[in-house]
Amino acid sequence: MRKNTRWMGSVLVLLSVFLLSRTLEKRISAQESKEPSSSKAAEFVGAETCLQCHANRESFKDNIHAKAWPRAKGIEFSKSCETCHGPGSLHASAAGDKNNPDFFAIRNPKKLSSKEIAKTCLECHKGGTRFHWEGSKHESQDVSCLSCHSMHEAKSPGGKLLLAKASVMETCFQCHNTKKAQFQRSSHMPLREGKMSCTDCHNPHGSVGPTLLKQASVNENCLSCHAEKKGPFLWEHAPVRENCLNCHQPHGSQHDRLLKAKRPRLCQQCHIEARHPVTASNPDNLHLAGRSCTECHSQIHGSNHPSGVRLQR
Ligand code: HEC
Ligand code: HEC
Ligand code: HEC
Ligand code: HEC
Ligand code: HEC
Ligand code: HEC
Ligand code: HEC
Ligand code: HEC
Ligand code: HEC
Ligand code: HEC
Repeated sequence: MRKNTRWMGSVLVLLSVFLLSRTLEKRISAQESKEPSSSKAAEFVGAETCLQCHANRESFKDNIHAKAWPRAKGIEFSKSCETCHGPGSLHASAAGDKNNPDFFAIRNPKKLSSKEIAKTCLECHKGGTRFHWEGSKHESQDVSCLSCHSMHEAKSPGGKLLLAKASVMETCFQCHNTKKAQFQRSSHMPLREGKMSCTDCHNPHGSVGPTLLKQASVNENCLSCHAEKKGPFLWEHAPVRENCLNCHQPHGSQHDRLLKAKRPRLCQQCHIEARHPVTASNPDNLHLAGRSCTECHSQIHGSNHPSGVRLQR
C-alpha cells in the first residue's frame, strides 16, 4: 500500500512540474504573440479619433444605424463605432503598428464566428422577425448575419435593409444559385419583374413553418396570396387540400402555370384511366390542345357547382 502511494506521489510531482512549465511556456508565447497585454484595459475614445485614421468609414454617418441610434438607443454618433468594435484606446495608441500587440485590441467582426457576431447584433435585434433565429436552418448551418447584411458597405439602394447585395434575390443567390436558374424558367411568379421577392414567402431569420416559410404550412403560404383557391368547396379535389406542391413548383417550371409535369401526364400520375368514359371511346380527346384534362375538368382546385362532382363546372 505505502509503496504504491509513494509511487503515485512522485508521478504527481512530475506532472505538476510539467504543467507549470507548460503554463509558463504559454504565458511567454502569449507575450510574444500579438495578444494585447492584459495589464491595461482599453477605454472609449470616440468616433472622431477613429475617423482620424479611418477616414473611409466617414460614410457610416449616412448609415441607418448612425441615424437611428440617437433616438432609438440614446447612442450619439461619437459613441457609435465602439458600440460594435469595443473600446479602442489601446488600438488607437498603437498608431497602426501591427507589431504592437495593442493594435489588435479592437473587435474585428471579420475575425469572429457567426455565433459571436449574431450575439452582438441580437443585443438590439432580438425578437421581431428574428424570434426563431436560434435553431433555424441558417443559424445551425453557421450562416452569419454578415453573409446577408453589410454594416459599412451595403449594396442595396440607399443602404435599405443594409443588404450585402443589390437586392434580396441577389443576396440569396450567393448561396442558392440553383434557385436563380429556376426563376429563369418560362413559368414563374413575378420575382424577376421585381413585384415579389424571396422574403414574401421565406423568413431567412427562421420560422415555425417548414423550409423557413413565413406561414405554418405550404398551403397557408400559397393561400395567403391565392385566396380564391382556399375553399371550402362543395366538391373538393383531395390533392389540392393536401398540398399545392402535388402539382406546382414554387420557384419556376418549364410547364405552364408552374406545373410539375405536362398535362395529361400530371393527372395520370394519380388517375389510372380505367373507368374514364372519354378514354374508352376516344383516347385522342385526352390530348386536347394545351389544357387536356382541364379542358373538361376546369374546376381543378374545387367546385361549388351543385353538379360539379367531376370538377367540370
Ligand atoms: C492612429 C490611427 C488609428 C486609429 C486612431 C484607429 N485605427 Fe483602426 N486601424 C488603423 C490601421 C492603420 C489599421 C489597419 C489598416 C486598416 O484596416 O485600415 C486599423 C485596423 C482596424 C481594424 C481591423 C483590425 C484587425 O483585426 O485587423 C478595426 C476593426 C479598426 N481599426 C477599428 C478602429 C476603431 C473602431 C477605432 C476607434 C475606436 C480605430 N480603429 C482607431 C489605424 C487606426
Ligand atoms: C453596427 C455595428 C458597427 C458599427 C456601429 C461600426 N462598425 Fe465597423 N464593422 C462592423 C462589422 C460587422 C465589420 C465587418 C465587415 C463589414 O460588415 O463591413 C466592420 C468592419 C470595420 C473595419 C474593417 C475591418 C477589416 O478587417 O476590414 C473598420 C476599420 C471599421 N469597421 C471601423 C469602424 C468605424 C471607424 C466605425 C465608426 C465610424 C465603425 N466601424 C462602426 C460593425 C460596425
Ligand atoms: C440568409 C440571409 C440573412 C441572414 C443570415 C440574416 N438576415 Fe436579416 N434580413 C435579410 C433580408 C433578406 C432582410 C429583408 C427582409 C424583407 O425583405 O422584408 C432582412 C432584414 C433584417 C432586418 C430589418 C427588418 C426586420 O425584419 O426586422 C434586421 C434588423 C435584420 N435583418 C437583422 C439581422 C440579424 C441581427 C441577423 C443575424 C442574427 C440577420 N439579420 C441575419 C436576410 C438575412
Ligand atoms: C446598439 C443597438 C444595435 C446594434 C448593436 C445593431 N443594431 Fe441594427 N439597428 C438598430 C436600430 C435602432 C435600427 C433602426 C431600425 C429599428 O428601429 O429597428 C437598426 C436597423 C438595422 C437594420 C435595418 C435597416 C433598415 O433599412 O431598416 C438591419 C438590417 C440591421 N440593423 C442589422 C444589424 C446587424 C446585422 C447588426 C450586427 C452586426 C446590428 N444591426 C447591430 C440597432 C442596433
Ligand atoms: C451564406 C450562404 C447563404 C445565404 C446567403 C442564404 N442561404 Fe439559405 N441556406 C444556406 C444553407 C447552408 C442552408 C442549408 C442547406 C441544406 O441544409 O441543404 C440554407 C437553407 C435554406 C432554406 C431551406 C431551409 C430548410 O429548412 O430546409 C431556405 C428556404 C433558404 N435557405 C432561403 C434563403 C433565402 C430566402 C435567402 C436570402 C434571403 C438565403 N437562404 C440566403 C445558406 C445560405
Ligand atoms: C411563392 C413562394 C416562394 C417564393 C417567392 C420563394 N420560395 Fe423558396 N420555397 C417555397 C416553398 C413552398 C418551398 C418548399 C418546397 C418543398 O417543400 O418542396 C420552398 C423551398 C425553398 C428552399 C429549400 C428547398 C429547395 O427547394 O431547395 C430554398 C433553398 C428556397 N426555397 C429558396 C428560395 C429563394 C432563394 C427564393 C428567392 C429567389 C425563394 N425560395 C422564393 C416557396 C417560395
Ligand atoms: C406573396 C404572394 C404570393 C404567394 C405567397 C404565392 N403566390 Fe403565386 N402568384 C403571385 C403573383 C403576384 C402571381 C402572378 C399573378 C399574375 O400574373 O396575375 C402568381 C402566380 C401564380 C401562378 C400562375 C403562374 C403562371 O405561369 O401563370 C401559380 C400557378 C401560382 N402563383 C402558384 C402558387 C403556389 C403553388 C404558391 C405557394 C407555394 C404561391 N403561388 C404563393 C403571388 C403569390
Ligand atoms: C391536382 C393538381 C393541382 C393542385 C394540387 C393544385 N393546382 Fe393549381 N393548377 C392546376 C392546374 C392543372 C392549373 C392550370 C389550370 C388551367 O390551365 O386552367 C392550375 C393553375 C393554378 C393557378 C393559376 C391559374 C388560376 O387558376 O388562377 C394558381 C394561382 C394555382 N393553380 C394555385 C394553386 C394553389 C394555391 C394550390 C393549393 C391550394 C394549387 N394550385 C393546387 C393544378 C393543381
Ligand atoms: C397527387 C394525386 C392527384 C393528382 C396529380 C390529380 N388528382 Fe384528381 N384526384 C385525386 C384524388 C385522391 C381524388 C379523389 C378520389 C376519390 O375521392 O375517389 C381525385 C379526384 C378527381 C376527380 C373527381 C373524381 C371523382 O371520383 O369524383 C377528378 C375529375 C379529377 N381528380 C381530375 C384530375 C385532373 C384533371 C388532374 C390533373 C390536372 C388530377 N385530377 C390530378 C388525386 C390526384
Ligand atoms: C372531353 C372531356 C373530358 C376530358 C378531356 C377528360 N375528362 Fe375526365 N371526365 C369527363 C366526364 C364527362 C366525366 C364524368 C363521367 C361520369 O360522370 O360518369 C369524367 C370523369 C372523370 C373522373 C371520375 C370518373 C372516374 O374515372 O372515376 C376522373 C378521375 C377523370 N375524369 C379524370 C380525367 C383525367 C385524368 C383526364 C385527362 C387524362 C380527363 N379526365 C379528361 C370528361 C372528360
